[in-house]
Amino acid sequence: MSLPAPAGSAVTERKAVPRRLLMCRPEHFTVAYRINPWMNPEDPTDTSVALGQWQTLYDTYVALGHDVELIDPIAGLPDMVYAANGGFTLDGVAYTARFTHPERQPEGPAYGDWFAANGFRVHEAQRINEGEGDFLLVGDVILAGTGFRTSVESHAELAQVTGREVVTLRLVDPRFYHLDTALAVLDPTGADANIAYLPLAFDEASRAELGRRYPDAVEVGIEDARWLGLNSISDGRNVVIASRATGFEASLRERGYTPIGLDLAELLLGGGGVKCCTLELRGDR
Ligand code: ARG
Repeated sequence: MSLPAPAGSAVTERKAVPRRLLMCRPEHFTVAYRINPWMNPEDPTDTSVALGQWQTLYDTYVALGHDVELIDPIAGLPDMVYAANGGFTLDGVAYTARFTHPERQPEGPAYGDWFAANGFRVHEAQRINEGEGDFLLVGDVILAGTGFRTSVESHAELAQVTGREVVTLRLVDPRFYHLDTALAVLDPTGADANIAYLPLAFDEASRAELGRRYPDAVEVGIEDARWLGLNSISDGRNVVIASRATGFEASLRERGYTPIGLDLAELLLGGGGVKCCTLELRGDR
């Protein structure tokens, strides 16, 4: 039974669209080096806890009807669990990742091989970029982060490869070093395309650009973003988020979304959350 909306409320009925996703089991997860402010190699990590939390995320996607594919983890690449960084796919084309830090560089070809073996036309990137960590598709445009990892030169390269408009956004707070730590795509398609973001993570020009493009965006505060609450996956209706991001959860409910809170605290030790563990696979149209 579905309850009638309270009088006077204009909550939109949200529609879920199942996705095809790629994940990587954190069999080799640990924090062995420090390439972002969340990582403290001197603090202990527990791979079995990471595996359990990751499994809950995987099971949640399957229960929501998403088609989840897996790439084999590689020993010695502890950050490979953050599949979002593995590349960017659109219309059956995979634009490969080219990592900033030497510790993660072997992940680029590993994900590239997976794309090739799974029917994608692989376009090997010439410019430094960290895939969907910094590239987010919203409607017809690709929002692209820069400042810490992904280079602006790759934004131009991606525009050429995809034929889409690529909007450069500059990140200024080292805690929010990838675009997907500071901005969430709530509705990726059509006229309803909308986002949520943490304004303080962006420079002034980027904040103005986001304000112009998304007047209905959900503005999220630091008390939610500090748990990587924005690092989330929406299917247009269900939004998988960090359970500690309770303010964001309330804003989502007010707007007619169904937030699903998960605890990925162990993976947060590497500086990643829900979205970081998830790459969207967009095949031929
Ligand atoms: N330790 C990883 C790094 O610093 C975390 C990556 C998180 N991924 C993401 N899409 N934000 O590269």
